[in-house]
Amino acid sequence: MPFTIAIDGPAASGKGTISRAISAHFGFRHLDTGLLYRAIGAMGGDPIAAARALVPQDLDRPDLRTAEAGQAASRVAVIPEVRAALVDFQRRFALEEPGAVLDGRDIGSVICPDARVKLYVIASDEVRAARRAAELGADPAQMLIELQERDRRDSERAAAPLRPAPDAVMLDTSALTIDQAVERAIAEVARARG
Ligand code: DC
Repeated sequence: MPFTIAIDGPAASGKGTISRAISAHFGFRHLDTGLLYRAIGAMGGDPIAAARALVPQDLDRPDLRTAEAGQAASRVAVIPEVRAALVDFQRRFALEEPGAVLDGRDIGSVICPDARVKLYVIASDEVRAARRAAELGADPAQMLIELQERDRRDSERAAAPLRPAPDAVMLDTSALTIDQAVERAIAEVARARG
């Protein structure tokens, strides 16, 4: 059984950076599952049809990292049929050797409930807004509004809402440097690998 690592948390919590670092460190494959929803949102048209027809190349679109793409992703992500259409794609990715890191909102709770490591990465709203603003060259106050709106939608939806799996390890990155956060995450994985 390949080793699966689930990393969930709200937008700009640091989960993407941690996931990339862990996958590089352990030689695992990495899937940023937010890109699936971003690609579907960016395609326009019927999101359910787009989800059913999604192919890996759709994740290479150059316009998926913008704040607008994030909002569009969060809107299509409330649709249960969209989520259902993406389950197999994500589980297949998780099951290929040598092991995988998947990051998103519902990986530990729904997609990979048997993941060997589950991290739930958080940071204060202000820290997350400042990080995202620096990344996108945007205004932190505007980013704060945007992130809080997205968190609310992601947490309040009926289908697979954003919340930690009961057995997830919480990692608060508010006061940590990237290196410190990555170090703690690597230590968790190393502990689980024995
Ligand atoms: O991680 P991200 O910011 O790229 O995610 C964009 C949106 O996609 C997020 O606001 C909610 C949705 N999403 C989701 O519902 N489930 C996931 N596993 C990943 C993302």
